[in-house]
Amino acid sequence: MGEKPEDSGPLLRLEDLSFAYPGGSTPILDSLSLTLQSGERLGLIGPNGSGKTTFFHIIVGLLKPQSGTVRFKGKPLIEEKDFRLLRKEVGLLFQDADDQLFSPTVLDDVAFGPLNLGLSVSDARARAEQTLATLGLTGYEQRLTHHLSGGEKKLVALATILAMQPSVLLLDEPTNDLDSATRAHLIRIINTLSLASVIISHDWDFLAATCTTIYGLKGGRVEISDELTPHAHRHAHPHGEHPHRHEDD
Ligand SMILES: Nc1ncnc2c1ncn2[C@@H]1O[C@H](COP(=O)(O)OP(=O)(O)O)[C@@H](O)[C@H]1O
Ligand SMILES: [Mg+2]
Repeated sequence: MGEKPEDSGPLLRLEDLSFAYPGGSTPILDSLSLTLQSGERLGLIGPNGSGKTTFFHIIVGLLKPQSGTVRFKGKPLIEEKDFRLLRKEVGLLFQDADDQLFSPTVLDDVAFGPLNLGLSVSDARARAEQTLATLGLTGYEQRLTHHLSGGEKKLVALATILAMQPSVLLLDEPTNDLDSATRAHLIRIINTLSLASVIISHDWDFLAATCTTIYGLKGGRVEISDELTPHAHRHAHPHGEHPHRHEDD
């Protein structure tokens, strides 16, 4: 019967977003636009304080832009109820996992989202166990979240989102607190999931290993340049503002 009109358009479209914190002298976002199509994983690189976290909080409606529009599947989001619907389908991994985890045990935390979506207690539990298994976290169900390491918390936080089976992932600095083995594990997970994603990080190699396109966030706007396109080669080359190593250097 064809697509419903409200399901047409890119998954996410951020249009001319401008934002300044109250009392802030400079705008954090300055007419920023970005489009996420299904199948894309967009990397967004920018230094500390460039507005990456602010941008994600605007997408999910935790902050209101002074101007501009967030569209999900073509539909502009206006009221809080629109953003509530978006948050069922767009999973934000917070920069700090402690902001995401609030239940005593891992299983309770991961089952919370599915319960909220209306699954029965047993279905939510099954969904949580299955999600933990996908992330290699079987056996963590009864662990106390506040006793987990930073890296374990990050993966459990990711599980709380994936258990809701989102259509879009927003990952805010996902490699913070990760040792190299967990970081490599996360790269495999993201590439295997193949979910439309926006990943913000200052870890260039991580973005190159996971993203289809990498943009820079500068002066409150998104920019693309050849130097930010993922590449696989070995010779030395200047990378201007974003120096990075290759895995095999
Ligand atoms: N609640 C707030 N009130 C005022 N300024 C803030 C607030 N949160 C963040 N900022 C400032 O906004 C800028 C962008 O912050 P943020 O989005 O967290 O950057 P990033 O995630 O790229 O490091 C920073 O200069 C930060 O100090
Ligand atoms: Mg941040």
